[in-house]
Amino acid sequence: MDNLQNFHRTNYCGDFRMADAGKTVSVCGWVQRQRDLGGLIFVDLRDRTGLVQLSFDDSTDKAIFDKAASLRAEYVIAATGLVRERESKTNKIPTGDVEIYVTELRLLAKADTPPFEIVEDSKANDMLRLKYRYLDLRRPDMQHAIATRHRITKIARDYFDEQGFLEIETPMLTKSTPEGARDYLVPSRVHPGKFYALPQSPQQYKQLLMLSGFDRYMQIARCFRDEDLRADRQPEFTQIDLEMSFVNEDDVMAIQEGFLKRVFKEVLDVDVQTPFLRMPWREAMDRFGSDKPDLRFGFEIKDISDIVKDCGFGVFSGPVAEGGSVRLINVDGHAADFPRKKIDKLADFVKTYKAKGLAWTRMVDGQMTSSYQKFLTEEENKAILERAGAKDGDLVLIVGDAKDEVVFAALGALRCECAKQLGLLDPKDFKFLWVTEFPMFEYSEEEGRYVAMHHPFTAPMDEDLDKLETDKKNCRAKAYDIVLNGTELGGGSIRISVPETQQAMFRALGFTDEDAQERFGHLINAFKFGAPPHGGLAYGLDRLCMLMAGAESIRDVIAFPKVQNASEPMTNCPDFVEDKQLDDLSIAVTRKEQDEPEA
Ligand code: AMO
Repeated sequence: MDNLQNFHRTNYCGDFRMADAGKTVSVCGWVQRQRDLGGLIFVDLRDRTGLVQLSFDDSTDKAIFDKAASLRAEYVIAATGLVRERESKTNKIPTGDVEIYVTELRLLAKADTPPFEIVEDSKANDMLRLKYRYLDLRRPDMQHAIATRHRITKIARDYFDEQGFLEIETPMLTKSTPEGARDYLVPSRVHPGKFYALPQSPQQYKQLLMLSGFDRYMQIARCFRDEDLRADRQPEFTQIDLEMSFVNEDDVMAIQEGFLKRVFKEVLDVDVQTPFLRMPWREAMDRFGSDKPDLRFGFEIKDISDIVKDCGFGVFSGPVAEGGSVRLINVDGHAADFPRKKIDKLADFVKTYKAKGLAWTRMVDGQMTSSYQKFLTEEENKAILERAGAKDGDLVLIVGDAKDEVVFAALGALRCECAKQLGLLDPKDFKFLWVTEFPMFEYSEEEGRYVAMHHPFTAPMDEDLDKLETDKKNCRAKAYDIVLNGTELGGGSIRISVPETQQAMFRALGFTDEDAQERFGHLINAFKFGAPPHGGLAYGLDRLCMLMAGAESIRDVIAFPKVQNASEPMTNCPDFVEDKQLDDLSIAVTRKEQDEPEA
């Protein structure tokens, strides 16, 4: 095997253009493929910037030619040679006009045949790609995604630095708090039976930093949450985390709009219009059935409860009588795209959101078919179609349920599903939205009590302050989410900075003063020493990267992600540990099970 003694790389493979012809250059990388045409050998050499063709012919030194003949895919080589115009040019790669005629070749490492081909848009199965993630990461699309992530992070650091933010690290070993998702716990050896928690976010520390007078804080922060995985959720993920003192909602939002404008311009050359649209949570739910509406298409939700409340059709009147509602969307102009069979599939789709069924009216070429019209009066039918703004060519889809949440969840998801099936989700169309005026609390069926919708440090809206303990359902928060194309990119709030309000908040959440002191005493006590009004926000960096890279899952923008069951197929963690390690930690494991991971 050769080495790199006295070899100096002059260029990356993707650099070469016609203007380089005549230069002597040195490159390194992996063999993409080798073509041996007898007296002629071509090697496509790959590094993180792209491919360049190396060529060898009958005038090549025999030892070099023989070495070139021995090369296989993924061998690691270094080569020096002359850049020259290619005989058969290709526009498939940016370096396609030129090649390097090799005068020195070093073989640095051989390689086994990889379990899948190292190419763009791999068709290899996900588990295999993740088991050999280091090879998967060699693929150009992964290289691009990870490089894009670097640029976004770098721009975040630069932008917030220019705006006066200090980057400050907060601890990874922290105290477990009962609010929010499940914690990842870390046992303490020195304190048998006690545990640290990995941070779900640096929330409390960043607030304390405001109290310490740092005024503007940022951190590219690793966060850990033991929750069910989805395409946009990982157990460990990264936030661009921010906090500011002496600000209101408008100040926080303006800074963020500046950041997003800059990052989209610099990374994608996309001009983002600011200020972004703002929409109160209630309006987002009513119009789009979601607190993270995708605004790239219409199909808005309309309430028809008033029209059907006394109708003779129980499927509609029943839910209204039980305190729920009946609502519709109009997939306008697309009835022809949804024949009966597809509508039946949509009905199955809404059932996954607990809806009992889907009623519909379809109007194609002046012909109206409907699943429900025969059960209603002419006036009722007319009123529904009028409310829908329906005309020929439209498809009206209706869901009713005794629970409003079910209606919103089903129709909210349905409008996105229809748009997806119709190909209306252009990943290059970026529609930003601030959702504001979130409810302070949401009722948790699991816990049988109200829990904080954002977190317990979020300030109530001034006009709802008196509702904090008396009217939880209608108490709104100074909380805002930044939403992009149906994804919650980030969330934040103005915080409670008055100790009495914080204590009232803990009482509203059902903590006794003792509980609150035990769990959050550090914060409650700190706030007695002069807390500035403050607020902030955290972006999901992975989600921002996913949307900017046009990826389908945040997994595609994380170098070493976890799979569905929170394991990592490459290192095979989590794993059992030695009894001695458990002994040291005073831990006894009572149950051992191991499932096959799914991608
Ligand atoms: P929140 O819990 O809304 O707020 O999180 C902020 C943003 O982090 C991203 N995110 C995730 N990304 C990937 N995987 C996950 N499991 C995951 N969970 C959340 C989302 C989300 O919008 N401390 C507060 C912020 C604040 O108030 O300043 C917080 O963590 O994009």
